[in-house]
Amino acid sequence: MSERRVWCMFFSATGGVKKIATQLTRAMCEKLECDRRTLDISTPAGREKPPVFAADDIVICALPVYAGRVPNVLLPYLRTIQGNGAWAVPVVVYGNRAYDNALRELQGLLEEGGCTCIGGAAFIAQHSFSDTLAAGRPDITDVNAVSTFSYQLCAKILDNDFSPVTLPGVYPPPAYYQPRDEKGEALDFLKAKPRTGPGCNGCGFCADVCPTGAIDHNDPTSVTGVCIKCNACVKRCVRHAKFFDDPAYLTHKKLLEETCTERKEPELFW
Ligand SMILES: Cc1cc2nc3c(=O)[nH]c(=O)nc-3n(C[C@H](O)[C@H](O)[C@H](O)COP(=O)(O)O)c2cc1C
Repeated sequence: MSERRVWCMFFSATGGVKKIATQLTRAMCEKLECDRRTLDISTPAGREKPPVFAADDIVICALPVYAGRVPNVLLPYLRTIQGNGAWAVPVVVYGNRAYDNALRELQGLLEEGGCTCIGGAAFIAQHSFSDTLAAGRPDITDVNAVSTFSYQLCAKILDNDFSPVTLPGVYPPPAYYQPRDEKGEALDFLKAKPRTGPGCNGCGFCADVCPTGAIDHNDPTSVTGVCIKCNACVKRCVRHAKFFDDPAYLTHKKLLEETCTERKEPELFW
């Protein structure tokens, strides 16, 4: 076993990012014969301490794309990264619309934290808002792409080739993606919150998995904090008791399902 560690750092509200991040990290640890460390930053508890890495570490940092960017709720935390010269691999996962500037933004944040990015990738997983958009992704083709990517990254590392990678996008990134209706009018659902149906038995699991701690554990029908529309509560409630009924949100979801049907493929850079 080598002294080197591969970090699996991820934020995943509905599980898509976690699948990609764990598969990639596992494949790299096998090839490099080294240990894996997991840093799950999906809940406030996971983001309590700044992430500190060492010079020999390899950091897989995997995040979902929200409005074409890195989720803004994570920016304060990501700005506390202490890379100390670690080699990083930014990975973004999106719901088959587009990843816009998210990959380049994540590279910028990792580099500002003192990491060197030796590769990067964009993968596709089921869209957080939908049961149909990119349903079943990541699938076998995506898993094969993860495997190819791990092979290429490990070949580079075993060659001691730590040359920085060039990733697509603009940094600092321009404005967030603005959802629009059929007439081109901006859709604003920033203040939308999940509602609670009769199936809720008050177990509080939705509060446990909420990435912003927005749901009151003692009264899960009460959303007192900032809702980021990640759908963790909607998709992970076994009683299907949470739902969104905001009209602008539902219009956006419908338009995404109608217009983003053409399959996107993973993009790998090293
Ligand atoms: C608030 C929000 C904004 C999103 N914006 C985009 C986007 O701009 N492009 C896209 O293709 N997918 C977008 N998605 C979908 C997620 O990037 C995608 O479903 C991702 O796999 C979610 O990761 P998770 O399953 O780990 O939660 C968005 C999801 C949310 C919750």
